[in-house]
Amino acid sequence: MKKNNIFRANGASIRKAAAILKKGGVVAFPTETVYGLGACVFNPKAAARIFEIKKRPYFDPLIVHIAQKKQLSLLAAELPSKVKKIADKFWPGSLTLVFEKKKSVPDIVTAGLNTVAVRMPDCKIALKLIELAGQPIAAPSANSFSRTSPVRAQHVRNQLKDGPDMILDGGKTRKGLESTIVKFEKGKFYVLRQGAVPVEEIEKNTGLKILKPADSKIQAPGMLKKHYAPKATVIAVKNEKEAKDLNAAYIAFKDRPQKKFKMVKILSSKGCLEEAAANLFDFFHDLEKKKAGKIYIEKAPARGLGLAINDRIKRAAAEAGGE
Ligand code: TXA
Ligand code: MG
Repeated sequence: MKKNNIFRANGASIRKAAAILKKGGVVAFPTETVYGLGACVFNPKAAARIFEIKKRPYFDPLIVHIAQKKQLSLLAAELPSKVKKIADKFWPGSLTLVFEKKKSVPDIVTAGLNTVAVRMPDCKIALKLIELAGQPIAAPSANSFSRTSPVRAQHVRNQLKDGPDMILDGGKTRKGLESTIVKFEKGKFYVLRQGAVPVEEIEKNTGLKILKPADSKIQAPGMLKKHYAPKATVIAVKNEKEAKDLNAAYIAFKDRPQKKFKMVKILSSKGCLEEAAANLFDFFHDLEKKKAGKIYIEKAPARGLGLAINDRIKRAAAEAGGE
């Protein structure tokens, strides 16, 4: 491996990162959700490197990050007032909006779709970086394809090694889960991915109805069944009664289990969904580092953010065998 490519985020390192992006490089950077692996959106060659570094299939499109709403005019074919309404309420924030793209947005970024996914992150480091780069930044999560998304710079380094030209370190991300993705099509909204902003919060704040993907044939490309997975076998359980193997690690939602598992972690001893979401991927990474072979994990209460947490648990556990 080359020398360490992690730099603590400050004025000088953000400027250096922006210069790398402008020259067509690829930089990993923090957002409030998870770390992203970014390249300038109008540089298809640089975007192609993102796919190579992540080993991501080309049918899986990228999210484009903006620093100011005026940058939308570079990406959107037109801006329907309903889309603007949601953006005004939730940006900067952990909500990605999908809508018809301008022709000039490169096909590699959108996987050939005529739509583009856009969000304005709620993270000063990311916003400064995009602003200094002088154009929107295409960035999926900075993990290897199908592995757990990184919530610390070191997680990026562990998975992508010296693939990125630089990794900006902004500490542990605040939200710890990817953004919620909502698609606008023919006047209606559909949720493509549950994420850091609960869907009911969007509905409550805008008065708009967000339909489930089951209401249409619409799907998010890249939303594969097995995803967000640590190397260990992950088994979702209701409680410790379903967990027989004491050699395994056990992630409880709120209460410490009575059985003596080899390793135990608590997502939130207060039972707080925000705290649980912020810890989930961090615990997966940590248990992977500690070489856990099997991880039992309790599901979260199925409301609000709990839906996004349970979605990630389900995907991490997919094809895991179970007991
Ligand atoms: O919080 C997040 O969303 C993070 C940070 C870095 O912003 N990004 C992220 O990107 O999680 P990721 O790795 O999930 O990749 C983008 C996903 C695709 O897998 C796909 O599901 C969806 O966004 N997507 C992108 N463009 C789309 C489009 N035009 N139509 C439908 N879905 C799209
Ligand atoms: Mg991802």
